[in-house]
Amino acid sequence: MKLVHLSDTHVGRGDNAARLQALLDDISTLGDPADHLIIHTGDLGDSGSPQTMQQSRALLDGMVDKGWRILLSPGNHDCGDAWHVDPQCAALFQDHFSSYLFGRAPKQYPVLTLTADCALIGLDSNAAEMSWWERWAAEGYLGQVQIAALGMLLDRAEVRQRKRIVYLHHHPFLDAFAVRADVGDRNYLSHLLGWNTRRFRRLKDAYSLMQTVRDRVDVLLFGHQHLGLDYSAEGQRYGIPLALDGSSSTGTQMDTDRMRYRIIDTRLGTYATRSVAFPV
Ligand SMILES: [Fe+2]
Ligand SMILES: [Fe+2]
Repeated sequence: MKLVHLSDTHVGRGDNAARLQALLDDISTLGDPADHLIIHTGDLGDSGSPQTMQQSRALLDGMVDKGWRILLSPGNHDCGDAWHVDPQCAALFQDHFSSYLFGRAPKQYPVLTLTADCALIGLDSNAAEMSWWERWAAEGYLGQVQIAALGMLLDRAEVRQRKRIVYLHHHPFLDAFAVRADVGDRNYLSHLLGWNTRRFRRLKDAYSLMQTVRDRVDVLLFGHQHLGLDYSAEGQRYGIPLALDGSSSTGTQMDTDRMRYRIIDTRLGTYATRSVAFPV
């Protein structure tokens, strides 16, 4: 099985709808959809507005019509915006993207999808961010109930005998570096804001998550920080061979403006990164 990892496409901002379409067109050329599974780790849209949801859903539906399977985890932008999540938005998003978030599984997190050789587990890192004082800043929180349920899922025989893939939106590792503003970059204010608010975009219960998944997961996929780095060295501290930040696949807010996605071979435990030019 090959996993195609996309993240943070932020449809609704700039030309990201056309960019996502170009990425999906490229994915269509990879081969037999039956050998692949697309995982989108959230911030599919830039906001939780009904128009954005319709626009991004139409793009995903186009792939499903061609036989591709897509799994999705909700991002903070899908459930509100960069600064807060909104319970109404989250409910609307869950409704609108139910088939991508849950497939045929019950409508609750963690979501388990089994294929012949993989057990894929989706988490909602906005789930416990709904109380008014927790809602501010784009932090993520899984909550004890969800983490306990994840622990129980990982114990199940049908999960243990497969490759185990956990996917969520928020970044489970500590702050990473980013290119700082320099003399040639005039976006001083946005860099200043981005850099200094990075600590407020963390997954608050990352420690509990990593204690639960240690030595029990083969691939950990996430997004949110738009850095696109390979965190396997961090993951391996917890016995997780592959830990990958999906970046912003459409190139949103990246100093390199580089569209890309990853193709992960779950059998070999290897991956390749594919760059896509835009405009094509
Ligand atoms: Fe994002
Ligand atoms: Fe995000």
